[in-house]
Amino acid sequence: MDDFMNIALPKGRLGEKVYDMFEKAGYGCPSIKEDSRKLIFESAEHKVRYFWVKPSDVSIYVEHGAADIGVAGRDILLEYSPDVFELLDLGIGKCRMAVAGKKGFVDDPSRTLRVATKFPHIAAGYYRTLSREIDIIKLNGSIELAPILGLSDVIVDIVETGTTLRENNLEPFYDIVGITSRLIANKVSFRFKNTAINKLCSDIIPYCKKDS
Ligand code: PRP
Repeated sequence: MDDFMNIALPKGRLGEKVYDMFEKAGYGCPSIKEDSRKLIFESAEHKVRYFWVKPSDVSIYVEHGAADIGVAGRDILLEYSPDVFELLDLGIGKCRMAVAGKKGFVDDPSRTLRVATKFPHIAAGYYRTLSREIDIIKLNGSIELAPILGLSDVIVDIVETGTTLRENNLEPFYDIVGITSRLIANKVSFRFKNTAINKLCSDIIPYCKKDS
């Protein structure tokens, strides 16, 4: 284990916001802003090494110790329950997990409800609390297509602005859980790099977005 802090960032627009928070907090790594296809960037000055990782893979890197800390959505943490510590709610990446379907859809409780989702664990948990029998259809993207094409009755998916639902004549029916991005840590790193991780948390806190 070197004395660098290895940080897994979610690739994409959200990851850039996350990096900006880290930079403001004093963990900048200017080379990351260069337009390149590199995936690893380090700053010897601040002793940080950043990796760009697919958002849904961040918790895997952190759980296995390939990264000491990382930023993952609450959706991923609830779906996969990785064995990591959740340290901070960064308040960004705000959205919600919701049940949605075709406008005017009416559930027939005498039939098994067909639910398409990327989040089978969250969906199953939600309907278990309602004692509603469902069949899960696991998809990997473009979930909104499922009710339109008759593959499912409803979807359980992330809603941020609601535009995707609206533009496809779908509507949200129920909110399941609110989602924001969380700072997570590997359990061993948290023990052995405790001082550095705690300092990073207190440096980041002022830049976390509070509820408005
Ligand atoms: C997510 C989600 C919705 C969309 C919601 O999709 O699955 O499709 O964003 O955002 P909105 O409410 O602002 O329209 P994502 O972009 O991750 O793509 P994918 O699930 O189809 O891969």
